Parts: sequence; C-alpha cells; structure tokens
Amino acid sequence: MAGDEQQTTQATPGGESLTVTGGPVDRRAPTEPGGTYDGGRVSTEDLATADVTDGVLYKVRDLEVYFPIHQSFFKSMVATEKKYVKAVDRVSLDIKQGEILAVVGESGCGKTTIGRTLLRLEEATGGHILYKELPVERFTQRTLREYRKKAQIIFQDPYNSINPKQTIFDIVAEPLEVSGLVSGEHEKEERVVKAISEAGLRPATEYLYRYPHELSGGQRQRVCIAGATVLDPDMIVADEPVASLDVSIRNDILKLMVDQKETLGVTYLFITHDLSLAWVISDRIAVMYLGRIVEIGDTEEVVSNPKHPYTKALISVIPVPDPLAKREHVILQGETPNPVDIPSGCRFHPRCPEAIDACREIEPTDVHIGGDHYAACIRLT
Ligand SMILES: Nc1ncnc2c1ncn2[C@@H]1O[C@H](COP(=O)(O)OP(=O)(O)OP(=O)(O)O)[C@@H](O)[C@H]1O
Ligand code: SF4
Ligand SMILES: [Mg+2]
Repeated sequence: MAGDEQQTTQATPGGESLTVTGGPVDRRAPTEPGGTYDGGRVSTEDLATADVTDGVLYKVRDLEVYFPIHQSFFKSMVATEKKYVKAVDRVSLDIKQGEILAVVGESGCGKTTIGRTLLRLEEATGGHILYKELPVERFTQRTLREYRKKAQIIFQDPYNSINPKQTIFDIVAEPLEVSGLVSGEHEKEERVVKAISEAGLRPATEYLYRYPHELSGGQRQRVCIAGATVLDPDMIVADEPVASLDVSIRNDILKLMVDQKETLGVTYLFITHDLSLAWVISDRIAVMYLGRIVEIGDTEEVVSNPKHPYTKALISVIPVPDPLAKREHVILQGETPNPVDIPSGCRFHPRCPEAIDACREIEPTDVHIGGDHYAACIRLT
C-alpha cells in the first residue's frame, strides 16, 4: 500500500481519534489507532493479508450517504444551497464477526443504503467503512473485485434476482465463474452441489438441472442463498430476504440463516422493517430512524428493555401469543418526515410521544445504557 506525505489526526463523534497518513488528505483517509491502514490505496495484497483481530469485521464510522437532488435549471439558479436526500446521516456501528446484526426501521429510513454502501454499490459521501481495518473507500478496482467475493447481498424478491432462463446449476455456478475462483469443471461442480445442499435443497442433484419456475418461492430464495455462499463470503447483506415469502415458509429460511451463521461462520447484516423478525433471528439489533441509528444493543436486551421512544413504539405493536397479555399499543402520529428536510434537534420529535420542548433544539447523542446497549434520546441523560 502506498504510504506517503502528510499525517493528521481527526476526532470522531465517538470521541476516538483517527490517524490519517497519506495524501492528498481528505475525509476518506482515516484509520483507527491500531488499524493496519497507513494511507494510499488498498491493494489486493492488503486485502488478502487482512484479518479480524478484535472480533469486529466492519467498523462503520460517521457514515454519510447523501444523494443530490437534481433541480430544474431555474430552481437551481435561485436556490441558496444544494439539496440532498440524507439517506444515511452520520451512522457509526460495528458488525461483529459471526453475528447476525439486524437493521430495523420504517420504509425509507436508509436500511438498504447502508447495506449497499458496505458493498460499495453506493459511494459514501462522508465517513468511513473499515473492513478488517481496511477502508473500503480506498479499495482499487481490482481490490473491489476481490472484496465482492467476500461480501455478498441477497434481495427481497427471489423472482427478480435470478435469471429464469438459467438452470439452478448455472445460477449458482455463475458467481464462481465470474470471480475466477475455480480452476476446473470438477471443482466447480463440487462447490455448486455443496452450496445448494447447504442451502437445504437436498439431494442437491435433484435440483441442479431444474429451472426457477419449477421451484417454490422459498426454494428460489434458497437458490439465491446458495449463489451467495458458494463464494465462501465473510458477510452477507440480506435485504428483507423473507418479505416476499409466504408466512409459512419464512421461518425455514430464517432458520437456514441462523444455521449457516453457525456452520459456515458467515456474518449477516439482516435488513428488515419488521422488528418481530429481527427478534427471532438476530444477535443484535440496530434501530434506524430517518438515516440515524437511534438504538442498538443485544437483541434480548433491546426487546425486553427498550429505551428509545421509537423502539418502544415498534415493540408495542409486535403481536404477542397470549391474547390476555395486556400491552399498550403506541401508534405514532404522522408520516416519516422527508429525508431532505430533517427536523431540527431530535429528528424524531414531531412524532415522539415523549417529546419535551428541548427536543426541538438539542440533537441527541448516544447514551450508554449498559453492556452493548446505546440509545440516542436526551431524556435518557
Ligand atoms: N439512488 C438514490 N438516489 C436518490 N435517492 C435515493 C437513492 N437510493 C435511496 N434513496 C432515498 O434514500 C432514502 C433511503 O432509502 P433506502 O432504500 O435506503 O431506505 P430503506 O430503509 O431500505 O426503505 P425500504 O424499507 O422501503 O426498502 C429514501 O428516501 C430513498 O428514496
Ligand atoms: S430526544 Fe426527545 S423527541 Fe427525541 S426520542 Fe428522546 S424524548 Fe423523543
Ligand atoms: Mg430497503
């Protein structure tokens, strides 16, 4: 990795300092103390030798993903400032190796954008993503190609994410061929059969030469999972992977992911708008509201002891099996505000049932509740 020129130190919102070496110095060149990154571009050799030393696969720091709004010529002439959709707005979190971290929140809060930015399918406009301490924004095109073997994504709709004209074998083999990971036909076949079998389609040989239309929705999602795991990735972003499936088969797919976490050691970022699904599957939950993480912690702790009013509202509407168990439903007033005009102070204040006057002025920072549990609300301080 090329390391030259200046060195600077930046403070992060978490109070850490990031040492930056290399030039030109910009917001995209930090590392954390102890990180392996020392400036310049990240090569394929850097990636091949990088390792997880502290149990954390990804460190996301102060991440911003702003999409510019294209205004008409006349509007842009009179506008005093350029407008942005602030899809992800200064998000910091760790993704621990081997965990399922669920990102939960309403439609439009920025869940998918976080997932896509981790894979660099979107470019961050600020902040940093460190993968095994290496800044993803500094990967060369070659490094990015290698990296994408290690970080995969599966989508909500298995109908649209696979080619209906390919056989199951070809669908699962394609990532291997594109990435050049196998040396011959025999190895390719072995890996495809293994991935299909590990995804629960057994015996795999029965499925190899079938077409997607011959399978059920759940089986097609298993094919998508096989297409991701065939590359032996470190991490899979699962973006609403069961949302389009029949309720009766959702649990099977969720169970498969939990099993694969254990057996293959794969880390999952599980994106969902449904907190009850996150509760079933995840080790930790990050609750997102309008581009921000408002609460994060171990799943059982967040669900049994929610601190942020938004999390409390989400939990209050989870159906409980006991019809006699009394629970007050918190119905949030109003629509999710527009990520272009984010409310002042606490961005949740226009809808918050616990808001006080100060919430309009003061932007909350994370409050440590205990253990790994944090929530961003001024009433907790
Ligand atoms: N490429 C883009 N250009 C402009 N705006 C975008 C782009 N991608 C996402 N957005 C906007 O960013 C915000 C966050 O979108 P995102 O898809 O990340 O939300 P989400 O939480 O995944 O929502 P959903 O649950 O509906 O999938 C939304 O307002 C969306 O319209
Ligand atoms: S800071 Fe105020 S508005 Fe925001 S969540 Fe807390 S009480 Fe509600
Ligand atoms: Mg989404």
